[in-house]
Amino acid sequence: MARVRNPVDLEQNLNPHASSRFTSISRTIFIPTFLISCALLLSALPVSAQTDLTGYWVLRVPTGDGTFHESFLDLKQSGEKITGRILRNGRETPITDGTFTDGKLHMVVTTHFQSTERTMTYDGTMKGDKISVSVQFPGRDAIVGAAERTTAEAALPPARLPTPALHDVPDNGLARTPPMGWNSWNKFAGKVTDADVRGVADAIVTSGMKDAGYLYVNIDDTWEAGRDAQGNITTNKKFPDMKALADYVHSKGLKIGIYSGPGPKTCAGYEGSYGHEEQDANTYAAWGFDYLKYDWCSAGEIYKPQDMQAVYQKMGDALQKTGRPIVFSLCQYGLADVWKWGPKVGGNSWRTTGDISDHWKSMEGIGFRQFDIASYIGPGHWNDPDMLEIGNGGMTADEYRTHMSLWSMLAAPLLAGNDLRTMSEETKSILMNKEVIAIDQDPEAHPVKKISEQGALVVAARQLKNETWAVGLFNRGDAAAKMNVAWSDLGLHGKLKVRDLWAHKDLGRVADQFSADVPSHGVVLITVKR
Ligand code: GLA
Repeated sequence: MARVRNPVDLEQNLNPHASSRFTSISRTIFIPTFLISCALLLSALPVSAQTDLTGYWVLRVPTGDGTFHESFLDLKQSGEKITGRILRNGRETPITDGTFTDGKLHMVVTTHFQSTERTMTYDGTMKGDKISVSVQFPGRDAIVGAAERTTAEAALPPARLPTPALHDVPDNGLARTPPMGWNSWNKFAGKVTDADVRGVADAIVTSGMKDAGYLYVNIDDTWEAGRDAQGNITTNKKFPDMKALADYVHSKGLKIGIYSGPGPKTCAGYEGSYGHEEQDANTYAAWGFDYLKYDWCSAGEIYKPQDMQAVYQKMGDALQKTGRPIVFSLCQYGLADVWKWGPKVGGNSWRTTGDISDHWKSMEGIGFRQFDIASYIGPGHWNDPDMLEIGNGGMTADEYRTHMSLWSMLAAPLLAGNDLRTMSEETKSILMNKEVIAIDQDPEAHPVKKISEQGALVVAARQLKNETWAVGLFNRGDAAAKMNVAWSDLGLHGKLKVRDLWAHKDLGRVADQFSADVPSHGVVLITVKR
């Protein structure tokens, strides 16, 4: 609270040794000048600057589903200037610009996560001994929470639990071809509800997606609440009854997936599985889940990258112990060469990159970086360059056809990330191109190879069953281009049967090489056989 200081207090504060340096003569000269200076200084100083915010604060912001996002503010106040850091989900962000003037706190922080930069502003008002804080994320409505004082210890991550000795988790026999289905994150993010998931399950069936092979209906982050007295994970208001939801999805002949992570918090700041791995695996199995995406995030504040294998193995073992077949999808953004040990922890797929977004640059940047690790795929274990953005509106139809073609050539999991209840015919034609899906799902699981790369023009080929080859002519450039592939590049020769998989057209027998005009950011995808 504001305190009115007297001039002596002020003098002592400005210079604690001041009086010892005064002589009796100089005092008579200095005192009037001193008092005038003090008066001037006092009038310039805002009253609120007297409240010192220095210390730790816990900020709780309601999410709207009955849970709170918790973050810690470690503040240092000097005059009106605020410095320090914000600790959230195991990530620490410095306050780049902070002031506290007239009881009003203003702070700016810029986070960097998976190469995405986000600037947030925090505006607070003192209310008694609490601060009412409004947090503004870019492009979203501000959310309001309350901060109260806490200790430095409260902001620390929990103690590190021991990791198990490494061993090979047996193959669970699932995902012989890349998993196909839908995931809530890309479109719904934190807003996904039970009703959305039911609606999407209905739409998978009625739209023909199920017949095209899309089977898993996966709930991503933000379904969680806290734990009950026995430590069992509970759901928030958006998901009133997980067992009933799983039963509903199963009644459609589909399978259902869930999300968690090895840290205390998930990426969106919800309850993670830290220290509850077996208990959570048993809960998922009891609810009837068939798939788990397990996201590193705040585990990084406790464990080192070299612990990752043991940490993921813990959940791999826990899932197998349940006795229920559960696909295990690792999500740690391709850290620690996960493709080398993913199968050993019972992983059926592992993310190889940071998060995709619904933009050409994001999608092509991720997709065309995958060739070097393409050989790490095989039945039961797949590289995962992240979920599909097709139909979300941020790319052109050519770009989405490139997305679908490239992911299929890579044998990536095909997890649609759009609202399946409201798909356009064009989106349907891309997601449900069965000839392209057949490349993705080819049982022989040969890796894709880059045949040539000339500037923005990339030719990739993948051997399929029945001595068939798939060839993608990808134009990453800004202008249409003529592209070609010689049969000799595939180790073939003569007149070969060519089919265009986007035009759905046989092109007859073609001698020696194939050429096509490829639109900017587009693809011509063919199969070639003797
Ligand atoms: C991470 C993952 C995303 C999504 C979010 C949820 O960013 O990479 O795919 O699961 O967390 O919070």
